Amino acid sequence: MKQVRVDLGERSYPVLVGHGARHSLGSVVPAGPKKAAVVTQEAVGVLVETGLEQRTFCIAGGEEAKSMSSVEDLCRGFAGFGLTRADLVVGVGGGVVTDVAGFAAAVYHRGVRVAHVATTLLGQIDAAIGGKTGVNLPEGKNLVGAFWQPVAVICDTEVLSSLPPREYRSGLGEMAKYAFLGVPDLPELELDEAVARCVELKASIVSADERETASLAGQGATSDSGRALLNYGHTLAHALETVGQYDLRHGEAVAVGLVYAARLARRLGRIGDDRVEQHARVVSAYDLPSRLPAGADPVELVAVMGRDKKVTGGGLTFVLDGPSGLEVVRGVAVEAALSTLAELK
Ligand SMILES: NC(=O)c1ccc[n+]([C@@H]2O[C@H](COP(=O)([O-])OP(=O)(O)OC[C@H]3O[C@@H](n4cnc5c(N)ncnc54)[C@H](O)[C@@H]3O)[C@@H](O)[C@H]2O)c1
Repeated sequence: MKQVRVDLGERSYPVLVGHGARHSLGSVVPAGPKKAAVVTQEAVGVLVETGLEQRTFCIAGGEEAKSMSSVEDLCRGFAGFGLTRADLVVGVGGGVVTDVAGFAAAVYHRGVRVAHVATTLLGQIDAAIGGKTGVNLPEGKNLVGAFWQPVAVICDTEVLSSLPPREYRSGLGEMAKYAFLGVPDLPELELDEAVARCVELKASIVSADERETASLAGQGATSDSGRALLNYGHTLAHALETVGQYDLRHGEAVAVGLVYAARLARRLGRIGDDRVEQHARVVSAYDLPSRLPAGADPVELVAVMGRDKKVTGGGLTFVLDGPSGLEVVRGVAVEAALSTLAELK
């Protein structure tokens, strides 16, 4: 088993990665709690043993379950179970479960400890690590939430074998992103090693910029971009998801977004053909799409990208590759964004 540490002073925590790692949950449960509220979904089907008096609370599947009413139901269930401030919440599932369980833990009794057992590839390399929790509103995704770091995260690669193939591929889209954030030879690594390397990279970014404040200041290219770098490939991906009429999982949309970001960077003279080809190679090694879905309208996509929640200044904002690596680039001309979209049709 591999162990990675997320270094955040007194809020530091271990991430255990490996086949069967869920059986080590008891070893990372902190001292003090008598009860554990296990939050999961029926479809997850992963049993965990905390060594405490535990009760399981199931939330529904899908993005709709990331709602204030799920959080209220959970908190009422926790109260009925007699969960106290000293006790523990355990999220067992993908990003939907860990986002909702994490947020419920952040607000129940003004904050109880939470541990996550991430059961999707996307959850293991991204959603369960870093303390972002939250739910959606009808007005938009992740609009209500809190930074609430877990006390431990378990990434059991054994449970990934029951994931629907499309969910697994969706995780590979995020993995492709890590290849460009700096994990070398990622497609060649065996699964446990690949997950651990991605976790290491996310942990180092989160440790340096826990609350994503590093990229808020500045104009043009910002070299100290911190946690915002995790949005590489996501500006177009979010636009494709917001338009909503395409049959794309999140990681598939990210894959198209990565290829797009590379081509945009080339158009702006920031990188050469070889680096663009490298993006295409990694995305195709993971059998992910690199073209816009049929019928996608570049004008509509650019309009949506202009409203992306990561935009904090004027103009279009992207994370782009360049001579000094990835950085947040503001004020990208609409014309460049449009012409590059046309290349991907
Ligand atoms: N907090 C963060 O930093 C962060 C980062 C990235 C994504 N997210 C959020 O994560 C969510 C997406 O997460 P996801 O891609 O893991 O999807 P998901 O949580 O919806 O899980 C996908 C499906 O797989 C099922 N499932 C989970 N584990 C399984 C297993 N081992 N075997 C069989 N089925 C299993 C789930 O029940 C669900 O139906 C989004 O809401 C996104 O906003 C959060």
